[in-house]
Amino acid sequence: MAEKRLAVVTGAARGIGRAIVLELLRQGRIVAGIDINAEQLGELKDIVKEAGFTAVTKRVDITKSQEFAEMLESLASEYGGVGILVNNAGITRDKLMMQMKEEDFDSVINVNLRAAFMATTTVLRSMIRNKFGRIINLSSVAAVMGQAGSGNYAASKAGLIGMTKSVAREVGKKNVTANCIAPGFIMTDMTAILPDAVKDAAKQIIPVRRFGQVEDVAKAVAFLASDEAGYITGQVLCVDGGMAM
Ligand code: NAI
Repeated sequence: MAEKRLAVVTGAARGIGRAIVLELLRQGRIVAGIDINAEQLGELKDIVKEAGFTAVTKRVDITKSQEFAEMLESLASEYGGVGILVNNAGITRDKLMMQMKEEDFDSVINVNLRAAFMATTTVLRSMIRNKFGRIINLSSVAAVMGQAGSGNYAASKAGLIGMTKSVAREVGKKNVTANCIAPGFIMTDMTAILPDAVKDAAKQIIPVRRFGQVEDVAKAVAFLASDEAGYITGQVLCVDGGMAM
């Protein structure tokens, strides 16, 4: 029974991650939400409780590889493996390439790509052993279209697509799927900081002429996590109002 398997969501404390936690709980999953932000993890716990559910919450900086891997291993041993892994945590350090420093590049790659690599390699063995796994990586339309001012971010998100497709090819025969969701402009704290001029210009290139809601992404993630999505692997699903087609 897939609903008995633990779902781990990184970057769970707010935004899209928080919506993914709630949606997976609504679908009857056991969910562990991981984040660096203890205060917002506390808020998540309250929101989950108000909605009538319980979730495991864990604070860790996912760029601290050893701590992160140990946390995943202890969750896996407590819950009989990780069935669903959602690599959602992500950061931006936007700058034009001419001004971008090495540390801007490294910090974004470390959270967005390297931590997803760490998590995947850590949970893959138990997924293969249990003959079930769903890996869902939050990429971005920036990976598909490029994005001025976000060379580091686009590189990290494009890296995720290549890694996802490679994992899909390696472990498909073990009933483990790996897919990417590529959100367009979704209303979260990450996009709230964009200048109004950028937001207005963005709306003009989105066929549905509006930004998405976190729930739009969460529902797509929950579908790819489901038993019913077992024949879908190595895909990039753009949840973007048609922006990147
Ligand atoms: P957000 O900034 O609201 O939330 C990201 C979460 O990741 C935060 O709770 C943060 O504390 C956590 N996090 C950051 N660094 C961490 C670390 N080192 N260790 C553990 N947790 C860490 O972002 P949002 O908007 O919810 O985005 C979620 C994902 O979707 C990200 O990967 C983002 O790149 C992607 N995405 C978002 C879009 C949008 O329009 N909001 C568009 C395209 C992709």
